Amino acid sequence: MARLPTRWYNIAADLPEPLPPMIDPLDDEGSRIARLVEILPSRLIELEYTLDKYIDIPGEVLDAYMKIGRPTPLARAKGFEKALGVGGGVKIFYKFEGVLPTGSHKINTAIPQAYYARLDGASEVVTETGAGQWGLAASTAASMFALKTTVFMTASSYRSKAGRRRLMEVLGATVYSSPSSVTENGRKALAEMGESHPGSLGLAIAEAVEYTLSSPDRRYLPGSVMEAVLILQTVIGLEVLSQLRDEPDYMIACVGGGSNFAGFTYPAIGAWLRGEGFEKTRFIAAESTASPKLTGGRYMYDGLDAGTVLPLAKMYSLGKDHVPPPLHSAGLRYHAAAPSLSLLRKLGIVEAVALGESEVLRHAMLFARSEGIIPAPESAHAIAAAAMVARREAGNGGVTIVFNLSGHGLLDVDAYTRFVEGGGDG
Ligand SMILES: Cc1ncc(COP(=O)(O)O)c(C=O)c1O
Repeated sequence: MARLPTRWYNIAADLPEPLPPMIDPLDDEGSRIARLVEILPSRLIELEYTLDKYIDIPGEVLDAYMKIGRPTPLARAKGFEKALGVGGGVKIFYKFEGVLPTGSHKINTAIPQAYYARLDGASEVVTETGAGQWGLAASTAASMFALKTTVFMTASSYRSKAGRRRLMEVLGATVYSSPSSVTENGRKALAEMGESHPGSLGLAIAEAVEYTLSSPDRRYLPGSVMEAVLILQTVIGLEVLSQLRDEPDYMIACVGGGSNFAGFTYPAIGAWLRGEGFEKTRFIAAESTASPKLTGGRYMYDGLDAGTVLPLAKMYSLGKDHVPPPLHSAGLRYHAAAPSLSLLRKLGIVEAVALGESEVLRHAMLFARSEGIIPAPESAHAIAAAAMVARREAGNGGVTIVFNLSGHGLLDVDAYTRFVEGGGDG
């Protein structure tokens, strides 16, 4: 029986070595760490540095979690197993975050962040968004706590994801295409590459932070990457622990900045780190070949954003100036993976695989037609990785795979249309 957790989990308390701390760049433009303290809700800063293993979920946040429909289901993908033809020995399960009202896992962290911003007395929250999933979640949570919202949306998504942009506007948010002309960072990028700039999450973050700093009534809400955000997503994995009958052989989730993967797997990884089970479970991060930081990046100190308005963190990164080609799964276009995820990858506790767009969308369509659920293209990276593992394990008998279906794809019609019109409907 699924249980709604009353505490979040913090993997920093169980890591085999301390997380390398964030640092300031060596220039004379002031401390970015001090700046972070200025822009984030104050409780988020505490969470970023805490070594407490469990953090109580405030009552108002629990109420909101119930209101949006948590706990979410864990279901067996029997139709998909059959479509893959892997035989009864391979069981595939998925946790479905797409049932949440904004369509993805992002609302799990948006709610407590907006709540903490209101506790600080802020009147407005500011953020960036790629596919629009995070921006929509932040706008929704802000409405729940009577806050104004400003969102910087990467230009390629601003153009192709008009649906999510309009929904943010319905919720009262002001949405700018990034690079925009309302910030110094945006104007600089426009001067360099002109109006055809596709934007990047790193650049949109730089714009959102700069905008937040221009008024003391604003708080910046980070959508991923920061440890505090990862902690607030662990409701997913804690629910999974209460829903699983047996420990799985594989846990798989896609990675943009890492909050989805962390939220889904960290409670199980933590149990393994403490010697409390999950010895046989392999944890697989599925990323896009367009931004393959865990499989093709370097473990190094790098900027969290393109403009270095935020501190440097030790991460697997492709370089903060990485501008990926525009692609369907806009939410995976980030240049780096969260510090704790990067450390777990370096220690060999987490494995990673990069998947190409057509392979991903082919599996997304197979999943849609066999399960009746149209997945978000981002989430479909986990589906394709699960299919890859299932085919490899077919015939080995008694293998269980659980993946996180982080969102539905009902607003990703553009991605599916391009794929089908390009002859991808096989
Ligand atoms: C549906 C969906 N899944 C996964 C991700 C990646 O999330 P994270 O940055 O938490 O890794 C995104 C990001 O936008 C998303 O929209």
